Amino acid sequence: MKLKEKLQQLRSEGRGILATNFYNLETLHGVLGAASEMNEPLILQLTQSSIDYMGLETAVNLGRTGLKQFGVEGWIHLDHGGSVELAQRCLDAGFDSVMIDGSELPFEENIKITKEVVARAKKYGAHVEAELGYVAKLGQSHDDKVFTQPEEAQQFVEETGIDALAVAIGTAHGFYKKEPELQLGLLERIAEATPVGLVLHGGSGVPASQLQAAISRGICKVNLATEIKNIFMKTLQIELRNNEEIDLRKVFPVATGEITKLVKGKLETIKNNS
Ligand code: 13P
Ligand code: ZN
Ligand code: NA
Repeated sequence: MKLKEKLQQLRSEGRGILATNFYNLETLHGVLGAASEMNEPLILQLTQSSIDYMGLETAVNLGRTGLKQFGVEGWIHLDHGGSVELAQRCLDAGFDSVMIDGSELPFEENIKITKEVVARAKKYGAHVEAELGYVAKLGQSHDDKVFTQPEEAQQFVEETGIDALAVAIGTAHGFYKKEPELQLGLLERIAEATPVGLVLHGGSGVPASQLQAAISRGICKVNLATEIKNIFMKTLQIELRNNEEIDLRKVFPVATGEITKLVKGKLETIKNNS
């Protein structure tokens, strides 16, 4: 099934799918282990940094082979694509979906760059996500948030022809200093204004009840990155303390297993929405 159809189906049913970032073989197997055990679909996301780290071909092939190996229904997605050129490279490499993130550009320029990516993606039958409003990036202040405006969202979706819209409704990338308060009323108005799948960025640190409330109001893709990196590295740090083991194939699986536990919990939260 194409991701577009999947998101439309989820949106109409008030359900959601988890989109997890991966960084290497171990984090990939961690998230896939969870999806496989729970028999749930999954979106595998790569940022430019992860693509640069692994190499584009390696990254996409790891993801694709992993899905097959674990028997998981899934899609490979470019997360926070910063340019038309990067989106184009990913389309050529066989991504199912690309995000063009023009959220820091003026409205008209965001429309322009997004339209360009939509036109290119069409030739590949690929799915396009864009962002309107601003979800603070890692390390940025959470204070000067710009929430997505429903009227702008409607115009943006109509003019660009995107399949999914990332909305700014009170989340931020990374962990939170204090519990986030999602703007659920605003989300309802955005959902009324546009029929496309709505995407929640900044999923790490959002309490389960708020994730569920957002999903029942139109969010159908929930992005998770920081909690995956965090549990992997924290587990490794503990595992390596006073440990002389040099066979990395004995050390890494412990951290991979912790990712699987984490992601199973998230899949449970998302699944139990309805
Ligand atoms: P977190 O790092 O807060 O989970 O956000 C993930 C994200 O939005 C990836 O695009
Ligand atoms: Zn994001
Ligand atoms: Na977050």
